[in-house]
Amino acid sequence: MSDVANSQTGITVAPVAGALGAEVSGVDLGAELGDAEVAAIREALLQHCVIFFRDQVFDTEAHKRLARRFGDIFVHPFFISDGDPEIVTIVREPGDTRIVGEDWHSDTQMMAEPPMGAILIALEVPEYGGDTLFANQYLAYEALSDGMKRMLDGLKAVNSDRLVAGPAAAERSASRATKARTDDGWRETANAHPVVRTHPETGRKALYVNHSYTIRFDGMSEDESRPLLDWLMDWGHRPEFTCRFRWRAGSVAFWDNRCSKHIAVDDIRDARRIMRRVQIAGDRPY
Ligand code: SIN
Repeated sequence: MSDVANSQTGITVAPVAGALGAEVSGVDLGAELGDAEVAAIREALLQHCVIFFRDQVFDTEAHKRLARRFGDIFVHPFFISDGDPEIVTIVREPGDTRIVGEDWHSDTQMMAEPPMGAILIALEVPEYGGDTLFANQYLAYEALSDGMKRMLDGLKAVNSDRLVAGPAAAERSASRATKARTDDGWRETANAHPVVRTHPETGRKALYVNHSYTIRFDGMSEDESRPLLDWLMDWGHRPEFTCRFRWRAGSVAFWDNRCSKHIAVDDIRDARRIMRRVQIAGDRPY
C-alpha cells in the first residue's frame, strides 16, 4: 500500500502493516488543529485502528486540547495521578519488575462506557526495546468460522478491574513506579458487554474480550467460561492481526479502543521509559 495524501491539509497516511496501523505525517499536534485536519486524523484512525506520529512536542495543556478535538476527556478510575486527573503518566523506572499494560487489553473495558481512544506520547524512551504491539479486533472477528460467529452472537461477557486494581493487584502495583489504587476504599467496577461489539462509527463488528478485564461470560461461572474465553483472547492477538510500534522521544500513538487491543512489551531491563497519556470518552458498547 502506498502513502495517501489529503490534498486539503497536506496530511499523509502511510500504513505500517497489513493488519492495522499507519504513520501520519504533515501535522503538528501541538498546534491548534483546523477542522479539516481533525477530520483527516479521525478518518485515518477509523481506517487504520491506530495511527502514529513522529517528532511531536506538546505539553499537558496542548495534549488535552488535542484530545478534546475528538471528544470529552476520560478520567482514569484507578491510576493514582500525580496532580492532574485528566493525565496518566506511565513511568517505568530501572528496577521495576512489572509494567503498565503488560497484558493484552483495551483500556478500562470494565467501565459502563469505556474510552473511545487514547493519545500516548513518548517523553523518554530507551534506544531500543519498550515497543507497543496493537491488534486489530475487526480482523480477529472476521477470521472466525461462521459457526463460532453464530455461537458468539448475542453473548455478553463480564469485565472487571479486579485483576488490575484493588487487593489482587497490590503486588503488581508495588513492583512498578506507576501505581493503581489498591487501598481499602477501592471498589470493583464490573460491567457486561457484548463479546462482539459493533463499532459506532464504522458499523463493523469487532471481538471484544481481553486478558486484563474479561473474567467470564455473562450467566456462566468463571470455570465454565475459561476454555472458550482464553481461546478467544489468545486468538485476538495472532501475529497476522498485529503491528508493532517502535518509540522514539516525541512519538505519538493514537488508538481506537473500540476495535483494537494493545500490550506494552516488557523487555527494557534497567532503562527508564516515560509516557504521557490522555484518554477520550466513549459510549456504551452494543
Ligand atoms: C497502555 O497500556 O496504555 C500503555 C502502553 C505503553 O506504555 O506502551
